[in-house]
Amino acid sequence: MMKILVTGRLPEEVMAVIKKEHHVEAHGEDRPMERQRLLDLVGDKEGLLCMITDRVDKEVLDSAPYLKMIANLAVGYDNIDVAAATLRGIPVSNTPGVLTDATADLTFALILATARRVVEGDKRTRAGRFRFWVPLQFLGREVSGKTLGIVGLGRIGRAVARRARGFEMGVLYNNRHPIEVSLEKELGVEYADFNTLLAQSDFVSIHVPLTEETRHLVDGEAFKRMKTTAYLINTSRGPIVDERALEKALREGKIAGAGLDVYENEPSVTPGLMEQENAVLLPHMGSATIETRTRMGLKAAENLLAGLSGKRPPDCVNWEDIS
Ligand code: DGY
Repeated sequence: MMKILVTGRLPEEVMAVIKKEHHVEAHGEDRPMERQRLLDLVGDKEGLLCMITDRVDKEVLDSAPYLKMIANLAVGYDNIDVAAATLRGIPVSNTPGVLTDATADLTFALILATARRVVEGDKRTRAGRFRFWVPLQFLGREVSGKTLGIVGLGRIGRAVARRARGFEMGVLYNNRHPIEVSLEKELGVEYADFNTLLAQSDFVSIHVPLTEETRHLVDGEAFKRMKTTAYLINTSRGPIVDERALEKALREGKIAGAGLDVYENEPSVTPGLMEQENAVLLPHMGSATIETRTRMGLKAAENLLAGLSGKRPPDCVNWEDIS
């Protein structure tokens, strides 16, 4: 039996899988583990099952001389210094696939909520201010038949494209490399360079991972290129969007609205953004369904156990560089 640190509260079903094989020390609270606590507790652990709110950097790795495996409870793993883990021979895993549909669903929830002013309408009703039906009130913009621009056509981007077909939307995409023509046909998508996508889309939805290349990919210049009637949707990672430039673009009417699930300095939100009625702001809940969070936990556990037994974890992101 090895010593494992789990830095968040997970479903019992998931904990049972790990506890069957190893000694688990778990942070049983619904708030991120404090930095000092993480540094203290990781010291004698062989396995770490961590959350996106844990910065697993050189300092953490230096505090963990026995660490053999890091399993992240997320598909994105920009919270982990993978290069530093690789140098120490530690496999790192993520949870791809199991949260694709939940995140694509929430992307569509944001598309609909922003364009149809769902949150504003809800607030108005709760405030007791739904007085009459009148023809020119709460006018939003149609979603059906519009153009959706998907930035990053990976698993989640493709799942969003599939949903867009149901709304009879035209779909442009931008990716590092265009996908196969047969897949483009199947998904009903058309490649566009980034600036063309920005200029032609009614909804621009971000689905790239956070890297040094994608940080502030959507900046003040990007907002200038977008239609004044367009919406920005981000369910990927906050720092991909320059949030101050977004706030300015919303305030000055450079774009029509934004639906965000993620923020540049999470959980803080850029001052001014909260005041924008045309922004729908969610607390990073793209994968938050009972089914998905359980699947993510089981996947992270599976990776953790494989790594600890010296096998290749099924979702290892640095295996080739280690072995
Ligand atoms: C992820 O998986 O990367 C999400 O942001 C958390 O579910």
